[in-house]
Amino acid sequence: MAFDIVVIVVSYLLGSVSFSVLLARLLKGIDIRQYGSGNAGATNTLRVLGKGPAIAVLALDVLKGIAAVWLGFWAEGSGSWVAAACGIAAIIGHNWPVYFHFRGGKGIATTIGVMATLCFWPALIAGVIAIASIFITRYVSLGSLIFVALTPVFLLVFGFTYPVLWSSLIIAAFAFWRHRTNIVKIAEGRENKIGSKSKGGK
Ligand code: G3P
Repeated sequence: MAFDIVVIVVSYLLGSVSFSVLLARLLKGIDIRQYGSGNAGATNTLRVLGKGPAIAVLALDVLKGIAAVWLGFWAEGSGSWVAAACGIAAIIGHNWPVYFHFRGGKGIATTIGVMATLCFWPALIAGVIAIASIFITRYVSLGSLIFVALTPVFLLVFGFTYPVLWSSLIIAAFAFWRHRTNIVKIAEGRENKIGSKSKGGK
């Protein structure tokens, strides 16, 4: 039990490494949370720093989700509650990072890593639909929400274990909470579209 708590805390600390904040500091000496949407994530890195840094942030944020779940697999096995808890802890770390005054991102790249490791096929199919929706609407936030909403649905279709199903629902709740401003902006037609100039504001 104590060991399980240690791996969950380590997952949180890993998730707290905010690569967009670090890269923006390193490349431009700025706090990315003061620019674009104010979000510490890959989409805002694309707006503020461009394609190369955005791809790097996306890959590293996905990787930390994968690494956290693997830590849980290593500790208690692949169907375990601990593996699911490690994934959730990494996303909490990304969203509320201990190293950066608890002001992080919206957790989607890390969620991709977590869900792809916990339940590859449901995450893949949800991901393909989400990417298609981003191409059609050019709203990354909408695609992100479609991804987290559909993953539990495909878990029900493909079969699931309770730790994975419950974690997917908790993760979806986090994502909707973190995207509440985006949801309002989409409804009002003010949301930034990928590839267009940022309308600014947070
Ligand atoms: O993953 C974050 C994305 O869904 C929205 O980011 O910067 O447009 O609020 P942003």
